Amino acid sequence: MISKFTFGTPFNTQSVVKELCPIDGEMPFFEVDTTNGISFTYTMEKNDIVYGLGEAVRGINKRGWIYESYCFDQPFHTEDKYSLYGAHNFLLIDAKEMFGVYFDYPTRMKFDIGCTHTEKLLVTAQTKDMDVYIITGTDKKDIVKQFRQLIGKSYIPPRWAFGYQQSRWSYATSKEVENIVENYQNNQIPLDAVYLDIDYMDAYKDFTVSDERFPDFKNFVSKMKSKGIRLVPIIDAGVKIEDGYSIYEEGKQNGYFCTNEDGSLFVAGVWPGKTHFPDFLNSDARKWFGSKYKILTDMGIEGFWNDMNEPAIFYSEQGLNNAFDRIKSFENKELDVSSFFEARDIFNNVANSDEDYARIYHNADGQKVCHKDVHNLFGYNMTKSAGEALDTIEPNKRMLLFSRSSYIGMHRYSGIWTGDNHSWWSHILNNLRMMPSLNMCGFLYIGADIGGFNSHCTRDLVLRWLSLGIFTPLMRNHSAAGTRDQECFRFENTQDFKNIIDLRYRLIPYIYSEFMKCAIDDDMYFRPLSFDYPTDHIASSVEDQLMVGESIMIAPVYTQNALGRYVYIPKNMMQVRLTDNGMLTQSLIEKGHHFIEIPLNELVFFIKDGYTVPICKPAQNTDLLDTSDLEFLGNGTEYEMYSDDGLSKDYNNPANRRMIKNEQRA
Ligand code: GLC
Repeated sequence: MISKFTFGTPFNTQSVVKELCPIDGEMPFFEVDTTNGISFTYTMEKNDIVYGLGEAVRGINKRGWIYESYCFDQPFHTEDKYSLYGAHNFLLIDAKEMFGVYFDYPTRMKFDIGCTHTEKLLVTAQTKDMDVYIITGTDKKDIVKQFRQLIGKSYIPPRWAFGYQQSRWSYATSKEVENIVENYQNNQIPLDAVYLDIDYMDAYKDFTVSDERFPDFKNFVSKMKSKGIRLVPIIDAGVKIEDGYSIYEEGKQNGYFCTNEDGSLFVAGVWPGKTHFPDFLNSDARKWFGSKYKILTDMGIEGFWNDMNEPAIFYSEQGLNNAFDRIKSFENKELDVSSFFEARDIFNNVANSDEDYARIYHNADGQKVCHKDVHNLFGYNMTKSAGEALDTIEPNKRMLLFSRSSYIGMHRYSGIWTGDNHSWWSHILNNLRMMPSLNMCGFLYIGADIGGFNSHCTRDLVLRWLSLGIFTPLMRNHSAAGTRDQECFRFENTQDFKNIIDLRYRLIPYIYSEFMKCAIDDDMYFRPLSFDYPTDHIASSVEDQLMVGESIMIAPVYTQNALGRYVYIPKNMMQVRLTDNGMLTQSLIEKGHHFIEIPLNELVFFIKDGYTVPICKPAQNTDLLDTSDLEFLGNGTEYEMYSDDGLSKDYNNPANRRMIKNEQRA
């Protein structure tokens, strides 16, 4: 059951799709105080678990830290951070009386989850204008399902987007892209897509392509496609200010850009230098910006990633001027400890500042709104603009779309990737832990930069990360400019990489089928173990294993130089091992704790007793997969298979779902 409580006058975020009448009465579970902004206090018992908050640092159980919902361009995903790029205000409290709660509030919110006081969950915001939804149900899966029905169906990508994808900032010429593709194909490592980061553009201008670096782009896109490769260009939020650049001219003429309070256009420094931000909270501006994706789809492009849409601001004119003024005041002075640090931080604090967010204004279809009051809706609406436009441009064809910044509701238009992580071992674990919390909020097409974005990777890190990455719907290797190359063919013995990526392709019948069933039925593709084994208190505390789809449990290695790892098996399972010669072996493993040896060139996962996983033969790309010739892993006798053409949108056609028999067992 879902109950809605309205406080003040909420801004309509359009995150929910069901109209509910607010209840005029006391909100259950929480003590509510509206004397100063608003606060909600819930008292937790010692063993209660708090799930949720989507993209965030730290554990699957969010207890013991303070989190903030405030979309932020945060390149350091360390434990001391409060927020990353998304705002996902959903919590699921696993207590004697279990419930879910969603705070639909478009700007900064604080969640002190037993950090200041061990037993107190305290949620605060500076103003009280919000809708709060309380969800009760029979169990955790049921509560999440009801919440997902409230916020609407998840975005579904084309099937090719389940293939392995290679990215880097940047493949700056068509030659470089060709070289990447050739190397993958020569090493027979499957690959479906190559990403075009900011350098494909002309001077970082959205919806342009550099003629010099990518001559005859349309032909190039089709040449790549004939090799089974889709190109996926990036689109940034800031539009370069440049006379004669049509996007800038049109946006200015029609009043489609964000302004300052006095109506003059807000100027933000990002990649191209000075830019304006399209006013994504305005439906005309949204429609206009979205229509520009057609420039690239007309050249054969079938997928996009939207970036820098928190929005990321390197500097504003006023912020930069203030910084120069302040730094001058330190000139020729003897600096003591505090003034030295103050001087040092002046330029660091210019980027993504609260002062700048307070300077920006939107015309939300006639309502003048200060950006700071709706900050978390910007990336969401940029991506909504793209999603709605792509639906118009290609009504019968699925397009790939994912975004960096997000708010609940955006999951109906796209997936997300989890932003600029590092080539750190701890970030494999971050990757794993964010997945189920994102699924709770409807984000199903998700993944992290495999191998790590910032800093130099190592061969072993990429291999171990891939062993998790083969289970994430978005499986993309991406890295920053200036870091060590991390495409699979750059390392010794590419056969080890091939074996793991081949396994991803072998699993696509299962991964795609499970993803689609979860999208259609509002279920979670990734689940903490406690969702499947609710009475097992050890399973409830496991933070480094996940359930993937209905049959699989994963327990990837995430420490360097490890021989293997401890795995908790909540009930008897089949252990599946990818051996160093690319073969799969299976054996029964009993309930309990096990140390499992997993050499670097092997991979282990588990199948629930009585369950089945259909697999096919690997292929160089998803278009070449033969999914009619299936084999089965696990000891179950049948499997509910979803399959379709992977491109059209007839998801609910009953012909797409059928029971298939595991012939070896049935
Ligand atoms: C941002 C993105 C990253 C991209 C870079 C250059 O940092 O998060 O993925 O490579 O910008 O466009």
